[in-house]
Amino acid sequence: MAKKTYISGLFNGIASSYDTLNHILSLSVDKRWRKTAVKKVMQEQPQKVLDVACGTGDFSIALAKAGVEKIIGIDIAEGMIAVGNKKVSQLQLSDKIELLYGDSEHIAYENNTFDAVTVAFGVRNFENLEIGLKEMRRVINDNGLLVILELSVPTNKVLFFFYNLYFKHIMPFIGGLISKDKSAYKYLYSSVIQFPKPHEFIQHLQNVGFSSIEHTAFSGGLARMYVAKK
Ligand SMILES: C[S@@+](CC[C@H](N)C(=O)[O-])C[C@H]1O[C@@H](n2cnc3c(N)ncnc32)[C@H](O)[C@@H]1O
Repeated sequence: MAKKTYISGLFNGIASSYDTLNHILSLSVDKRWRKTAVKKVMQEQPQKVLDVACGTGDFSIALAKAGVEKIIGIDIAEGMIAVGNKKVSQLQLSDKIELLYGDSEHIAYENNTFDAVTVAFGVRNFENLEIGLKEMRRVINDNGLLVILELSVPTNKVLFFFYNLYFKHIMPFIGGLISKDKSAYKYLYSSVIQFPKPHEFIQHLQNVGFSSIEHTAFSGGLARMYVAKK
């Protein structure tokens, strides 16, 4: 099965419990990471942002609350988008946020459409990372911004020991109990372990033409933020 088919099936399967589990399993630290990433985006005061792999829309919603006028979110899992659109309408943000079906590797917008593109915890799921990065760069305005937030592996050995214990054993157990899909949380562990190391990921960004690349580690390397310019 192609990775994309597997991924959309996986996220459609856990869509209804994704938000609850996300905050429980990350012990809510993801909220702090998102806040810092949103602050970084807002430094450029973008008017129009594309939120790739928007899922249930938390990052899009945070951008709207921070003052972005128009946010388009795209994702390949319709179940995730449906949950997100419900939240958007409950928060009365439908005039600012549109969450739609869309693939990072074939973005249905013209060149130079957005002031910024964001991806929160999505790039490690792309079937072809460089095609996704290239497509995102294509739709960013000249000198526009890319902000990527992604989970990563801590470099400290002691932290890594506890990280491994939590991600490999405790998380699939709790995730499996609540979402009824233990394999989804096993995938989460392997996708983070297999994701390129920071210097490799920066190389991918350079390969597709991004410049002024900055990289910040959060919480001892549990997550990383990459910022780049077109
Ligand atoms: C871990 S969720 C993150 C969702 C959201 N950004 C957040 O911060 O909670 C990853 C999302 O990436 C989406 N995804 C994976 N590959 C994609 C692709 N090629 N194009 C668009 N979305 C994709 C999945 O469907 C899933 O909803």
